[in-house]
Amino acid sequence: MTEKDFIPKRYSESMEHGSVSWEAPSNIALVKYWGKKEHQIPANPSVSFTLKNCRTITRLDFSKKENQSDFDFEIYFEGNKKEDFKPKIKTFFERIVQYVPFLKEYKFEIHSENTFPHSSGIASSASGMGALALCVVSLEKKLNPEMTEGFFRKKASFLARLGSGSACRSIEGDIVVWGKHKEIQGSSDLFGIKYPDEVHENFKNYQDTILLVDKGTKEVSSSVGHNLMHNHPFAEARFAQAHENLAKLKPVFAEGDLKQFIEIVESEALTLHAMMMSSRPYFILMKPYTLEIINKIWNFRKHTGLPVCFTLDAGANVHVLYPEKDKVKVLEFIKNELVAYCENGHYICDSVGDGAKQLSDDN
Ligand code: DP6
Repeated sequence: MTEKDFIPKRYSESMEHGSVSWEAPSNIALVKYWGKKEHQIPANPSVSFTLKNCRTITRLDFSKKENQSDFDFEIYFEGNKKEDFKPKIKTFFERIVQYVPFLKEYKFEIHSENTFPHSSGIASSASGMGALALCVVSLEKKLNPEMTEGFFRKKASFLARLGSGSACRSIEGDIVVWGKHKEIQGSSDLFGIKYPDEVHENFKNYQDTILLVDKGTKEVSSSVGHNLMHNHPFAEARFAQAHENLAKLKPVFAEGDLKQFIEIVESEALTLHAMMMSSRPYFILMKPYTLEIINKIWNFRKHTGLPVCFTLDAGANVHVLYPEKDKVKVLEFIKNELVAYCENGHYICDSVGDGAKQLSDDN
């Protein structure tokens, strides 16, 4: 598929007003997306676990308007009008309007809330853009009821990507690939797809306990970080490595080889941060407690033999990953040894989930 396939021909229906609601989950990358080209095209393919509990719930109210010269919308986050969220949404609308030309024909109210605390240091851009993209495509489906379920999901992911790259991995569950990879059929730079190959029982309901080491806002935004991969001395080697790691994960997913899984996932997390530390300007997003936690996890793994590992996103928080069958022992370890490193003792228990859900549709 190409971008052109997402430009609609004409709509058979019209709609005066209505409302649609979706909830979309967050996701955690195993092979990281870090570096992009123009139009939100990733520099390398990535793969993620879709989460279950960390979600954004969004309702989009729409009503037809007279003046169609510009976008007209208000955004409410957890009940409060948010003027400061508007520029990001406006940029999103500008990027997607050629694929959903009706956007200027409606006045919108966007009502959004997260199931996780706003000040948790967990980026809500993936779940937030995912949920909003789904609402927009839901409205489009009202104008074109013939749209198939498969195309609906692809288009939602395609639009979400234009809002925030990782958001395109927040539509489907439970493992999602985004970015063209020669060994993964159907993979595309334009949208995320459900991982199409065999997945071993070991990965079913995999656990992700998110340790909130630093709840502050990020010192360096992801967009700035991605840009620093242009002219980065290790960029080409890094992009090639992501392709290799994804290829290596295929037999790991099929056979349930947790030892290999751990090696790839932890190496990806550390490489992501190594890219930040070796860019110009360079920066460090890990905190001292991030390292304390990593060392504790390594010690625990060595002494118990349990397959627990970590991954990081672009921040100091640590995602502790482990199979469901080891939940009791690992949670005990987390409570006894790791919670002390979390800001105010806060952490979030999550696990792999099966993607976004429509909540209501009043028409
Ligand atoms: C480190 O998706 O937040 O979490 O496309 O600029 O919105 P933009 O970036 P974003 O980058 C996420 C980077 C990451 C790794 C990942 O999720 O793959």
